[in-house]
Amino acid sequence: FDLLSSNTLGLPAHAAAMTRYRSTSQLRALSEICRAYPRAFVLGGGSNVVMERDLESLVIKVESAGVSVHSETNDELIIEAHAGENWHKFVSGCVGRGWNGLENLALIPGTVGAAPVQNIGAYGVELDQRFHSLVAWDMLDARLVDMDAADCQFSYRNSFFKQAKPGRWLILKVRFKLPRRWHAVLDYPDLRRHPVLEKAAASVTPKQIFDAVCEIRREKLPDPTLLGNAGSFFKNPIVTLAQYESLKSMVAGVVAYPQDGGLYKLAAGWLIDRAGWKGRRVGSVGVHERQALVLVNYGGATAQDIKRLAKLIQDDVMSRFGVLLEQEPVPVS
Ligand code: EPU
Repeated sequence: FDLLSSNTLGLPAHAAAMTRYRSTSQLRALSEICRAYPRAFVLGGGSNVVMERDLESLVIKVESAGVSVHSETNDELIIEAHAGENWHKFVSGCVGRGWNGLENLALIPGTVGAAPVQNIGAYGVELDQRFHSLVAWDMLDARLVDMDAADCQFSYRNSFFKQAKPGRWLILKVRFKLPRRWHAVLDYPDLRRHPVLEKAAASVTPKQIFDAVCEIRREKLPDPTLLGNAGSFFKNPIVTLAQYESLKSMVAGVVAYPQDGGLYKLAAGWLIDRAGWKGRRVGSVGVHERQALVLVNYGGATAQDIKRLAKLIQDDVMSRFGVLLEQEPVPVS
């Protein structure tokens, strides 16, 4: 099964076989089929993976669909979405129905089922802040499991699922808890200074935030259908106050956000940009010209090309600033 058009970075790879998941009636058979392969690999939108080589795996393409109100109270609405739903379409549908609270997460590529895996986040909101629970199928023990936020062990771009053995867990449905008393999240500088939102001030609507986020993302981030990429290629590193202070004494203007526990999250894009990598091209790969955190495939790149460029950037940032950049998308091999 050719995976080239199933990963947004556009890396060439094949899998031993592929099967589609659409409904729970398939689950037992799916666990059985998996036993015939050394590994399984669950594929959503393919927008946060680096296909490193051909896979001996069975690829499970998640294509289940449907969105509904799971339950409601005076304070909140619990919305349930099937894992195969396109994330942006889901968010857009929620905003259209007045189910507010996900608008800051507009236009993130990928599927609903993949969203908890890396605890997606953007423009001041992380998925775990709106997460209620999920239903997953344990491929190994062939059982359904209901998991709440604590079970999912969310942290910045991380979760229980990102650490688990690939192919063990198939996320089937995700539930979101949306407060009835909505309030705008406008902490993120790009949103705070957006002219429409600034003008609307206290009467800002979820739709205005949704539109502003789409506009900002379209300006900065390459559309994967036009230019291969997997979003941010590195995580924003979290460092101690001492490391942050030492960095500040080395270089002026370091961008950092205070975190819980006296830690600081550094803007990796700023470090890479400052090191002179923004817009640089190395053969068929490069660093995006408007966002240094995004590596792009100009066409025909291999995993080796991407890995080589990533290593050059990591080594350079380490030698200049003493900061380790960790890869964000999941390596698949
Ligand atoms: N910056 C630069 N040069 C660059 C890029 C960024 O100087 O080339 C500076 C910006 O000026 C800003 C700071 O770095 O002061 C942060 O940049 P930005 O607001 O663009 O966000 P980011 O930290 O680079 C993170 C997420 C994005 C998410 C945005 C918005 C990670 C790894 N990335 O990027 O997520 O959209 O914030 O919230 O946390 C993704 O994960 O794929 C992704 C795109």
